[in-house]
Amino acid sequence: MVKYINIANTELKASNMIMGNMRINQLSLSEAEKLIRTAMEEGINFFDHADIYGKGQCEELFSEAIQMNPAIREQMMIQSKCGIRPDLGCFDFSKEHIINSVNKILQRLRTDYLDTLLLHRPDPLMEPEEVAEAFEVLHTSGKVKYFGVSNFNPLQIELLQKALPYKLVINQLQFGIAHTPMIDSGIALNMKVDQSINRDSSIIEYCRLHDITIQAWSPFQYGFFEGVFLGDLEKFPELNKSIDKMAEKYGVTSTAIAVAWITRHPANMQVVLGTTKVQRIIDSCKGSEIQLTREEWYQIYRAAGNMVP
Ligand SMILES: NC(=O)c1ccc[n+]([C@@H]2O[C@H](COP(=O)([O-])OP(=O)(O)OC[C@H]3O[C@@H](n4cnc5c(N)ncnc54)[C@H](OP(=O)(O)O)[C@@H]3O)[C@@H](O)[C@H]2O)c1
Repeated sequence: MVKYINIANTELKASNMIMGNMRINQLSLSEAEKLIRTAMEEGINFFDHADIYGKGQCEELFSEAIQMNPAIREQMMIQSKCGIRPDLGCFDFSKEHIINSVNKILQRLRTDYLDTLLLHRPDPLMEPEEVAEAFEVLHTSGKVKYFGVSNFNPLQIELLQKALPYKLVINQLQFGIAHTPMIDSGIALNMKVDQSINRDSSIIEYCRLHDITIQAWSPFQYGFFEGVFLGDLEKFPELNKSIDKMAEKYGVTSTAIAVAWITRHPANMQVVLGTTKVQRIIDSCKGSEIQLTREEWYQIYRAAGNMVP
């Protein structure tokens, strides 16, 4: 079974494994149903969506596959995101767009509320007061319980937070063994090497200081959707060797160790799993509660090609 965390400043007790639904439109209806049911059987109670996933198809398939009804809805927390406009090639945090997006999301998901709504990527043209107005409409109408962001840096959060009457509770960010800028610069602080470049203004420390739950997206990928590091012996020979060794020690798969490496971090992150395979959901959940030792955690970090000075 998976571990549960309290999302600070909410009443949500969420699994630290999240089922990400960005890729489920690759599945048939029955395959999608099996995947969702397996996730629930493994203890996953948190489901991540976005209006743009499969141009809305992923949300539709999800609710159809699970035959969404009030009894099922009660057993899960559902999150979606908005603010990206692929149709216009821009980000859009206008009041009108946020409210319209949520209305369409709710229709596709066949539900009348979201547990959490995230703004998908920071819009430089954001007017915080306008976003606050949109959130207020959504909150008072009962359509969204809590709000968060994704891919935001600390000052972008503060700028928005200043206009809001309630706390932003989540920041979804890319993080996994092969994508660690959030911790690299802190480890190589003040050195004349690339690893010390602070690319996100210390977002991990900021989120911990302000009790914002981090959700790690693309946990098995390297780069921006460049590929999966697990099993890639050409690009990541040392990393795979190290992970495989620990998988053997703990009697789990390498998938579980990749997950455990993320959950070992004291920020208490949730891991957003993007797999479309039932067995990989089960394998990932086995990593949820493994507590890697400090030495093991660092060994994997170094095996990924990072320096520990
Ligand atoms: N906020 C954002 O900006 C943002 C951006 C991207 C994604 N997300 C969210 O994060 C979720 C996860 O993203 P993602 O799908 O890119 O992440 P991911 O879980 O790292 O990658 C999924 C891909 O890797 C493969 N894979 C997964 N586990 C594997 C394993 N153990 N061994 C080998 N291959 C494996 C999957 O193939 P199989 O299906 O064959 O297993 C799939 O192609 C999405 O569903 C979405 O909810 C958020």
